Amino acid sequence: MRSESEVPFADNPFQVPVADRLKRLPPYLFGKINKLKYQKRVAGIDVIDLGMGNPTDAPDPAIQEKLADALKDPRNHRYSVSNGIGNLRREVSKRYDRKYGVRLNPDDEVIACLGSKEGFSHMCLALMGPGDTAIVPSPTFPIHSYAVVLASGNVIALDVRDPQKFLSNVAYTCEHLFPKPRLVVVNFPHNPSSTCIEQDFFVDLVKLAKKYGFLVISDFAYADICYDGYQAPSFLATPGAIDVGVELTTMSKGFSMAGWRIGFCCGNKEMVRALATIKGYYDYGIFQAIQIAAIVAMRHAEPAVDAIAKEYQKRRDVLVDGLQRLGWEVEKPKAGMFVWAKIPEPWAKMGSIEFSMKLLEEGGVAVSPGRGFGDEGEGYLRLAIVENSQRLRQAVREIGRCTKADQAKAS
Ligand SMILES: Cc1ncc(COP(=O)(O)O)c(C=O)c1O
Repeated sequence: MRSESEVPFADNPFQVPVADRLKRLPPYLFGKINKLKYQKRVAGIDVIDLGMGNPTDAPDPAIQEKLADALKDPRNHRYSVSNGIGNLRREVSKRYDRKYGVRLNPDDEVIACLGSKEGFSHMCLALMGPGDTAIVPSPTFPIHSYAVVLASGNVIALDVRDPQKFLSNVAYTCEHLFPKPRLVVVNFPHNPSSTCIEQDFFVDLVKLAKKYGFLVISDFAYADICYDGYQAPSFLATPGAIDVGVELTTMSKGFSMAGWRIGFCCGNKEMVRALATIKGYYDYGIFQAIQIAAIVAMRHAEPAVDAIAKEYQKRRDVLVDGLQRLGWEVEKPKAGMFVWAKIPEPWAKMGSIEFSMKLLEEGGVAVSPGRGFGDEGEGYLRLAIVENSQRLRQAVREIGRCTKADQAKAS
């Protein structure tokens, strides 16, 4: 047996000097909740998980079958191309034309990404460096600020829940900040608040971008999940948008292909080229069988996307109606996969993290605390409508049960 002195590094553990950029990241606020969720699952306790916008439904069978087919071709098991195969980029461009009347050149205005989050993050790395500032939406979907931080940039988070006020705050910041912001990130339908806009918003944003010289990234992840006849506008459908920015879309939500990791970045060719340069060094592209199945999805599975949106609309109604019956102040979102609910008065002072822990501990319902999306999110919960209607009814019952128990104790 080795004596202690022979064990390498026993009393002098080797220090791993991680890069400063990792130290700039804030503490991960969902850690405590995720740990409890995991412990409950390991103990065999059922958790109704409304924590993440992670679809539980499978993609349309035609998409799955095409993937299975494509697997049989040995050529599809090789490295693919990092910007996506030509037919895929052409299909994305056709879909933009069909849905938004936007003409994109598939050769240099479209690039495929390993999910839109990867595209967004690497675009920030391509555009931002030390001393550069990005304006991001607040409450903040974490990667919108972390990708800027990881690219060594600085973040100014502006409240987007009143979109007109957001625009005037962008203008005010541009007037007063030196050097001026390099980038403005927008995300409508917004995660987590589900705030939506109309095309006019983008017209004003493009004017500001041209006036102050900032670039725009529009994260359009929820483009396909719209309700009651509302169609979320594409940034790229705005005259002049392509001069100043790009838009990210994804197959994760509308096509329920979240685990497949496929999304797109489209728009300004200089920005697309910058992202392509980074990706050319970092990755060999998406598994080709997935790219082929994605082409078939866009050609033939559009009705499945509509069906998925209708299903989410039904779930939205079940959850919002249920919470309103419990006396919660909550509105029906026009789009997106989230219900953004104000924590009712008696529990608001508890803070969103503690209240979320309580719902998980006592009711077996996992939600995301608003605080996890920055200070502006405090006082709110984000509930993802990813479980089916029956499970959502059960979630409302459980939330009602554990909040009523408190009220009974107090009276
Ligand atoms: C606003 C927003 N952008 C991007 C993503 C990530 O999407 P993808 O799966 O395409 O990386 C999400 C996922 O939850 C999201 O909410």
